[in-house]
Amino acid sequence: MRQTHHIIFAEYEGPEALSPNDRQLLMEARQALGKAHAPYSGFRVGAAALLSNGAIVSGANFENAAYPMCLCAERSTLAAAVSQYPEARVTTLAVTAATERMAVNSPAMPCGACRQVLFEFEQKYGHSIRLVLQGQSGPVWVFERASDLLPFAFGPETLQRI
Ligand code: THU
Repeated sequence: MRQTHHIIFAEYEGPEALSPNDRQLLMEARQALGKAHAPYSGFRVGAAALLSNGAIVSGANFENAAYPMCLCAERSTLAAAVSQYPEARVTTLAVTAATERMAVNSPAMPCGACRQVLFEFEQKYGHSIRLVLQGQSGPVWVFERASDLLPFAFGPETLQRI
C-alpha cells in the first residue's frame, strides 16, 4: 500500500511578518554571523536559541583546518545552550547564513547531522523545538518541530526497541 508523508511549515515574506519574539531571535542569529569562524568555506552561519527560561544563546559555525572537524552553527549553539542552562530546554532555534560569494536569499536549512542532533533533544525534552530559518534575505520558513525535517528518524526510542 502506498503511503505519503507531508511536512507542514509556514512561509513568511520576511522578518516583519514574524511575531516579535521570532523576529528578535532571527536578529540575534544574524548578529551571531559575526562569531563565525569560517575561513575555509567563507560560508558563515549564525544561530540563536530561545530557552524555556527566556534566555537567548547564540552561536555560529566553527571551522577547522582539519575539515571534518567543522562544527555547524546549529550544533555549536545547541551545545552552548544545553551546557549553560542544563535545567532549561531550547524552545526555538533561529538560523541564518551569509557568504560574500553570493546572496543567500533562501532559508538556511540545517544539515542532516544537525537535524539528527535536534531530533535527539526533542526526544530528551519530550517537547518540540521550533525552527525559524532565513537566508540573508528572502522568505522565512518556520517549522513547528525540528523532527518534521527528519521523518522516520533513528533515535533513542529505536535503541530501546532493540
Ligand atoms: N553549516 C552550518 O553551520 N550549518 C548547516 O546546517 C550547514 C553547514 C556550516 C558548516 C561549514 O562551516 C559551512 O557551513 C559550509 O558547509
